[in-house]
Amino acid sequence: MIFTVAIDGPAAAGKGTISRAVAARFGFAHLDTGLLYRAVGVLGGDPAQAARCLRPEDLTRADLRSLEAGQAASRVAAIPEVRAALVDFQRRFARRQGGAVLDGRDIGTVICPEAEAKLYVTASPQVRAHRRWCEVGGDEAVVLAEVQERDARDMGRADAPLRPAQDAVILDTSAMTIDEAVDRAVAVIAARRGEHRRG
Ligand code: DC
Repeated sequence: MIFTVAIDGPAAAGKGTISRAVAARFGFAHLDTGLLYRAVGVLGGDPAQAARCLRPEDLTRADLRSLEAGQAASRVAAIPEVRAALVDFQRRFARRQGGAVLDGRDIGTVICPEAEAKLYVTASPQVRAHRRWCEVGGDEAVVLAEVQERDARDMGRADAPLRPAQDAVILDTSAMTIDEAVDRAVAVIAARRGEHRRG
């Protein structure tokens, strides 16, 4: 059975939490594609070369979750050669047997336009910055500026900019609890699975 769930959206909208919960609920494999760009960003050197030579152990580094790694990821993600080097791996993962959930920025638009279920998870910049600030601490205004800077770069780049796929279901989590957001996502995917099974 091949069934791809594409979950895209801006930083700190809840994609990761929703993706993990959905993967567990349906028994699908999960790939956080942001980790690929974060690893390339922190490896340093020539980003295109780093992307071509990425190894599984690079994705388990302890420093990948920091704000700095997020900014570095967003910068290298604007380089077309970096994106190109990471496409095949993501496509193979998406179309593996048994079902897959991928979260990122361009899964439903570029990596897997044929995905059987697509969600675009978003929330206001203020809500996203507040959530991120609760995790990392520091000055909330600085975290908000960082979120807005990353949004502008991810949405404004020429190659695979962040935007909802035309057939994505938009999930605005600004006023939702995590459980509500997960329930909504599960309902959307369950409906798509039903349609898919009926063929
Ligand atoms: O989801 P994240 O915060 O870990 O992503 C970090 C950066 O990587 C993000 O700002 C843009 C980039 N990215 C991307 O361009 N395409 C993806 N599919 C995933 C992440």
